[in-house]
Amino acid sequence: MSELSPADIAKKAAAEAAVALIEDGMRLGLGTGSTAVFMVRALAERVKAEGLSLRCAATSVATAELAESLGIRIEALDDIGWLDLTLDGADEVDPDLNLIKGAGGALLREKIVAKASDRMVVMADGSKVVEVLGAFHLPVEVIPFGWQTTQELISRALDEIGLTQRPILLRKRDDEPYRTDEQNLILDLSLEEIPEPDRLAQRLNAIPGVVENGLFLHICDLALIGRPDGTVAELTAEEAGA
Ligand code: 5RP
Repeated sequence: MSELSPADIAKKAAAEAAVALIEDGMRLGLGTGSTAVFMVRALAERVKAEGLSLRCAATSVATAELAESLGIRIEALDDIGWLDLTLDGADEVDPDLNLIKGAGGALLREKIVAKASDRMVVMADGSKVVEVLGAFHLPVEVIPFGWQTTQELISRALDEIGLTQRPILLRKRDDEPYRTDEQNLILDLSLEEIPEPDRLAQRLNAIPGVVENGLFLHICDLALIGRPDGTVAELTAEEAGA
């Protein structure tokens, strides 16, 4: 097996710490992304070793396929109904445990699953911890119909809240517009910083063509931040004063 990079050691450590929180009988939400891949692998090992009985919903087709390939049965969220715990990665984590998510394009299902959970735990390496959200692009999922009009409306909404002249890019993959699992498009907003995330999230979601935005506000309960030496720091919402 190839050697892990320092960032991957940190992600793996955070993922393993998250999997250690799982108890027999739990209903789980499984996140998406490279950290979530470590989590799903660690979960599969625990299931095999301990014969855990779990019910799992996935936040993307990719995660569902990986989990199933490792022997973890995936059910539809609506068949499970409510989840005890969701484990997911993040692109940015601020001191209040507010997040930017969606670099992997799964923000819509991720938010639905996280909001259907008693607890959301984020696993990340230290590069994701920021003082103020927004250096990372903010993904916004939009429906394909009239997407350029939606882009214009987003641009006007940004202007109105003082985020003027911010580039908005249609996400592409292999030179084609990227499609989410719901067959929607993603607009990536380069905002530099987001001083009022609640206000921005509300403004974005009030635009008709916007399905959801990548701001996960007041949702995360605990962030497990892995370090390259394999240790993990815990950041809680209480500590953060949220
Ligand atoms: C996917 C996500 C991911 O959780 C986020 O992009 C973090 O990914 P990674 O663990 O690969 O850094 O939100 O939509």
